[in-house]
Amino acid sequence: MSEIRRAVFPAAGLGTRFLPATKAQPKEMLPLVDKPLIQYAVEEAVASQITNLIIVTGRGKNAIEDHFDVSFELERILEERGKSDLLNLVRAVSDMVHIAYVRQKEALGLGHAILMAEDLVNDEPFAVLLGDDVIESTPPCIRQMIGVHERSRTSVVAIMEVPHEEVGRYGVIQGVPLGDDEGRIFELHDLVEKPEVGKAPSNLAIIGRYILTPGIFAALRATNKGSGGEIQLTDGLKVLLASERVLGYRFRGRRYDAGEKLGFLMATVEFALRNEEFGPAFRTYLKSLKLD
Ligand code: G1P
Repeated sequence: MSEIRRAVFPAAGLGTRFLPATKAQPKEMLPLVDKPLIQYAVEEAVASQITNLIIVTGRGKNAIEDHFDVSFELERILEERGKSDLLNLVRAVSDMVHIAYVRQKEALGLGHAILMAEDLVNDEPFAVLLGDDVIESTPPCIRQMIGVHERSRTSVVAIMEVPHEEVGRYGVIQGVPLGDDEGRIFELHDLVEKPEVGKAPSNLAIIGRYILTPGIFAALRATNKGSGGEIQLTDGLKVLLASERVLGYRFRGRRYDAGEKLGFLMATVEFALRNEEFGPAFRTYLKSLKLD
């Protein structure tokens, strides 16, 4: 049994990068091929033996709760029509896990969203998964990070090299590789949220997977508003660094930035190509397009 039993899914953001699609619908419910974005992160946690999930929602996010709930009407209709395949698909979603919901009343940032989960986290190390980052890997990214945490007992943030001109879109770390696990583990010395290109301490960007010790809550309470006037998790981790070690982990796997339109399209095309049911037909269609 994993020591990390709980995972927090911040899902209260306004989804401004996806307007107008997200005006009346949560970004987390945008379908990537045939599943809403947030389900990919939930399935990653479940595949990593995390069984207690906490979703931080806000106004206009009811569709997320409905999605993971039992839908008696839909199940009855599918049953009556003999659609057992669809019935199994629908049931699998609600059978998946136990989910608790907590609301972030105001969109005051990712760090503030994590603080909302404090009472439910219960003073234990926990995982955080951002649904915008869809990561394909075996073992799952968060499972890899649990392995690092089990050895170090520290907070661990997922990191990835990004092109220098893109660092301003991410939290960026300054750290030193520790030399084990093929140089994937870094001792962090500093973290900066969305630095200007010339001022970034490296091109190692934080990706939306974290293992956090409960010390993060006091650190977040001591964190001032940062980038965008919000309480940033990156800034909270910097405060935590003053009293605890924090490691960076360059995970194995492929990450899709499904939180912005182009990245979402790329993920859609690649996931569709791999789909067992219609991948081959989609490939034939794409090949038929006369692209120069
Ligand atoms: C958030 C974090 C940022 C991180 C990014 C990864 O930013 O604040 O540090 O690099 O997720 O996707 P957001 O994408 O919410 O602006």
